[in-house]
Amino acid sequence: MSGKLVMGNWKMNGRLDSNRKLIKAMLEDAHINRDGVAIAAPHAYLMQLSDLLAASPMAIAAQDMSQFGLAGAYTGEVSAGMLHDIGCRYALIGHSERRQYLSETTAVLNQKLINALEAGITPVLCVGETLQQREAGDHLTVIRDQLDILAQLAPTRVIVAYEPIWAIGTGKVATLDQIREMHTCIKQHCRQTHGGAEAVRVLYGGSVKADNADATLAIDNVDGALVGGASLDVESFGIICQACL
Ligand code: G3H
Repeated sequence: MSGKLVMGNWKMNGRLDSNRKLIKAMLEDAHINRDGVAIAAPHAYLMQLSDLLAASPMAIAAQDMSQFGLAGAYTGEVSAGMLHDIGCRYALIGHSERRQYLSETTAVLNQKLINALEAGITPVLCVGETLQQREAGDHLTVIRDQLDILAQLAPTRVIVAYEPIWAIGTGKVATLDQIREMHTCIKQHCRQTHGGAEAVRVLYGGSVKADNADATLAIDNVDGALVGGASLDVESFGIICQACL
């Protein structure tokens, strides 16, 4: 998949019945039912999605994975190998909600990235600054620090999702200039860190909706979108997927 990627993150939403209806509607929308579109569902429903999407080019993604190895005495954990086994192509790593509510540390995220890559899953490392950090003018430094975790990894096998925390679920979208500046910074930093290697792909996330998708996704260094709330509405999600073509 070398074009733009749209990943719908359902977060902690869904039930067997509503998932079935939502996926059925997505399969009927040609803008959604195609390569370059992925759904990150709760672990409990990944197997259901794996079945429902078996004949579709759409991919499934995990919202998280264990920091521990492929198997062992880690009650409640789901390993990268298990996720790969049921057909997950991607996994979100370090979403700001997990950094905030589950206190995920850099060491933990580093191990998750390694596990994902070892299991054959493409990790999507989420980075983002708070409003206070942006207002203090520290946003570029904060994001560069969050990216340093990638220094020892194969850059072309990792996707970065830039999600300003103040834009998640708030309806506030970063301005086009703010997005362009940050995506340029992320790509430059990764290039420098990896000694001139090809830049990683960078998705934008944070209140991406049907009415701002065209402008956001037209920015040349935006390689796709990580979509929360709007991915639960097939009409909105279809418009966003269309904007990614
Ligand atoms: O993972 C998705 C992001 O947190 C964005 O969520 O589109 O509801 O703002 P949102």
